[in-house]
Amino acid sequence: MPRSFVDLPVSVDRGAGTALAVQLGDRLRDAMRGGTLTSGERLPSTRALARRLAVSRTVVTEAYQQLYAEGWLEGRHGSGTYVADMALPPEGEGDRREPASVSVPLTVPVNGYGNGHGPGVIDLRPGQPWVHDYDRAAWRRAWRGAADLPPASDPDPRGLPRLRAALAEHLRRTRAIPVGPENVMVTRGTGNGLDLVAATLLRPGDRAGVEEPGYRVARNVFAGRGAEIVPCPVDEDGVVVDGLPDDLRVLYTTPAHQYPLGGRLPIPRRERLLAWARRTGAIVVEDDYDAEFRYDVAPLPALHGLDPGQVVLLGSLSKALTPDIGVGWLVARPSFVEALAVTRDALADRTGGPAQQAVAVLLEKGDLDRHLRRMRLEYARRRAVVVDILGSRVTGDTAGLHVMVELPEHAVAPLVEAAHARGVLLDSMARHYHGPRLRHGLVIGYGSASRADVRRGVSVVAELIG
Ligand SMILES: Cc1ncc(COP(=O)(O)O)c(C=O)c1O
Repeated sequence: MPRSFVDLPVSVDRGAGTALAVQLGDRLRDAMRGGTLTSGERLPSTRALARRLAVSRTVVTEAYQQLYAEGWLEGRHGSGTYVADMALPPEGEGDRREPASVSVPLTVPVNGYGNGHGPGVIDLRPGQPWVHDYDRAAWRRAWRGAADLPPASDPDPRGLPRLRAALAEHLRRTRAIPVGPENVMVTRGTGNGLDLVAATLLRPGDRAGVEEPGYRVARNVFAGRGAEIVPCPVDEDGVVVDGLPDDLRVLYTTPAHQYPLGGRLPIPRRERLLAWARRTGAIVVEDDYDAEFRYDVAPLPALHGLDPGQVVLLGSLSKALTPDIGVGWLVARPSFVEALAVTRDALADRTGGPAQQAVAVLLEKGDLDRHLRRMRLEYARRRAVVVDILGSRVTGDTAGLHVMVELPEHAVAPLVEAAHARGVLLDSMARHYHGPRLRHGLVIGYGSASRADVRRGVSVVAELIG
């Protein structure tokens, strides 16, 4: 039975000059960190605590909301507010809702990206979402809906009209991008969208800009289409606009959450980037891959919304749901969507109809929105675990499913090796560079391991960093 707090050990000071909600949040956080309040304990209702502290209910609500967002608290079936399960369960006892580890033999090279690994191995490499918590009934309903679609002999290369309409509505609502179905092409994911853009725009020898450090797949795809890769430096905020060459045909960028450093491109820099693109005629390829998962920060407008003529936006369900579904989208001006459709026809490239129909059902029924809300909370909790353990060493943690920890160059490889020996798989910054490596450290992903394993694995990292 959870203990119910009538004597919660918190107080606020009206003379302190700090907002009461912030003070209350700090006190509660301290109590949870210090173990006075522990996992599963129920907090007083906002009304009861407001009365006890003689503050308005809004103060308590605001403090609770902040702690919810950070992952410290959770609600249960409308029955109150509880301290979230952030504690390390006893050895051998996993998170309640999480499945047993995958029982595939351990064959993971230290810097490889094999997916199968054995029991007890904790994978903290970035790029994988948590796929185990989903609404089974909604998933089955979506695939029953997919079976209603008769097989098509000549599918539209732009995708199912029903899904393009649902995606346009989703993007208008969630990203405030004013688009209609004529702006949307359904892809199999970001990599497929990138390749269609490259096949349409790039000729051998064209120069293609990619953030440095940046997403390896973008470099591979552009190089595969014969382009010369031009590494474009990034800093804490994202891609550096001053100094971008004038002769790029395309520039690949991740403004919502720079991959892998984690910056969010500020508005003035977004505007300068678009001015550069208009002046030079370059097409900006905006990978919006992490925009769904954002913590404690307001959304920034997509580059595409700021200048639809110059930007192609790529999105994907790979992180929001699962890479396995093979559905993503591309947003561009209608004439460019038509050009891409011609490329697609020429390559006999397409997204499977049943998967598109299933995604349309998930969007129309609100199931994807519900899933995203649930996952946002879950990832916020994991991120809170990582930040709690590694503290100010962590950077790039305002969004997405990974953080950065900078370290001296000589420390990285031995640390990755030592962690591997203890069953913790890590990714180093080195892999994300095309040219000389200017920054060093770890890119820690918290998508694919359970919350308890994230805590265990990151504790090993903290111990090894010393
Ligand atoms: C930077 C970035 N963009 C996009 C994706 C998703 O790619 P796709 O939709 O091709 O699975 C990932 C997945 O790891 C990623 O890291």
